[in-house]
Amino acid sequence: MSTNKARLTKDGIRLYDPSDFAGMHAAGRLAAEILDRIAEHVEPGVTTGHLDQLITDWVTDAGATSATIGYKGYQHASCISINHVVCHGIPSDKKLKSGDILNIDVTVIVDGWFGDTSRMYVAGGKPNRKAERLMQVTHDALMLGIEAAKPGNTFGDIGHAIQSYVEAQRMSVVRDFCGHGLGLVFHAPPNVLHYGRAGTGPVLEEGMFFTIEPMVNLGRPETKILADDWTAVTRDKSLSAQFEHSIGITSGGADIFTLSPKGMFHPTYKMT
Ligand code: MF3
Ligand code: CO
Ligand code: CO
Repeated sequence: MSTNKARLTKDGIRLYDPSDFAGMHAAGRLAAEILDRIAEHVEPGVTTGHLDQLITDWVTDAGATSATIGYKGYQHASCISINHVVCHGIPSDKKLKSGDILNIDVTVIVDGWFGDTSRMYVAGGKPNRKAERLMQVTHDALMLGIEAAKPGNTFGDIGHAIQSYVEAQRMSVVRDFCGHGLGLVFHAPPNVLHYGRAGTGPVLEEGMFFTIEPMVNLGRPETKILADDWTAVTRDKSLSAQFEHSIGITSGGADIFTLSPKGMFHPTYKMT
């Protein structure tokens, strides 16, 4: 644990110690295991509230804490965002329909460390071609962002890698939500934008812990928040997808804390 006073960059970004990576791996692994485990339950006719109840139980069974229950009044262990919902979908008694695409986002706290990850699922396993392409592009955009996450590069390099790829596929990057520093807190500096110019923004350094979590729309990037004050949807009602990893910067690049133990991060594991 970091017992001495925290090291901060001039931008207020905390630099964690090599010994802090183990705690993040434990938290990230639990979040990823939960996302692996939920996959077989994502079927037509199942409610998102049921999926959230399973997740809540599994967090408890692991002796961990949900980071989202009680966070700014949020009452669930997951966000479940279906089709044109961009993020922060609230689990409910709404039933999944065959071909729905959905993001499930889970954040757990293990021994004080936060593990935050999300990925896409398909109810019934068969998305239409556009939905499949959207998920593929979003997944690949996250991975390109992670490849740009290494010491000496800037946060603008990460955003630029994501935006240039997504827009070349004629899809759009959501601007209204971003990734974030995390570690011993849930949301810390910096804001990790999924768009931007190469060479701009703070320089990445070893020991930075943050998420990259691009949201990509088939149509325009604008979003709006529904009357429940949480659910963000695309203004043009186009489909939206998101993938999220929590990472730590090492001398060699990014150490991904939330890798799927079963290789189930990408949704097409089920489609082949
Ligand atoms: N897990 C989300 C993120 O990636 C945050 C969800 S906050 C909640 O940052 F309150 F909506 F759950
Ligand atoms: Co996050
Ligand atoms: Co998240």
